[in-house]
Amino acid sequence: MEALLGSLEQLALIKALKTSFFAYPIVNALHILAIGALVTAVLLMDLRVIGVIRSLDEQPFVRLLRRVALWAFALAVLTGALMFAVRATEYAGMPLFWIKMGLIGLAGVNFVAFSLLRQPSAKRVLAGVSITLWPLVLLAGRFLGFVL
Ligand code: HEM
Repeated sequence: MEALLGSLEQLALIKALKTSFFAYPIVNALHILAIGALVTAVLLMDLRVIGVIRSLDEQPFVRLLRRVALWAFALAVLTGALMFAVRATEYAGMPLFWIKMGLIGLAGVNFVAFSLLRQPSAKRVLAGVSITLWPLVLLAGRFLGFVL
């Protein structure tokens, strides 16, 4: 496993990312942009489903925000994976990194279940879970930068 992570760090693209003055900060900024869009879209969607926001029709509002959340999540995964690859061995040894991945996994499963379920009461419960999980992912991500 260590050898695999080591060779990931040695890929030409990842070495360029590490040595370029501009590349890493740009990838990091795109990660933050994606996270902002993702968390905003998800929270607005959850608040609409729970009933805190009532002024807009639920279906088109949720459909639009779900699309934004999916694109933002894809960008967060791509940029996150690039940053991970720069210091793959170190991140892989950090429990906090795996806590963050576990929380993302839980939030992702919750999101899929939310999209598949039809009963309004069940959707409200999952929206409540989502409101708790995504900010926890955000917090874990922010702390990761501090403890490395
Ligand atoms: C598979 C998906 C993801 C991976 C592999 C990943 C990986 C990373 C890595 C390696 C860093 C750099 C940490 C450092 O500064 O040393 C980071 C930063 C961060 N991540 Fe992610 N991430 C992912 C998704 C997410 C998501 C979905 C969120 C939030 C909803 C998130 C929130 C953050 C935050 C807040 C930071 C700190 C940014 C900063 O202050 O510079 N990440 N992530």
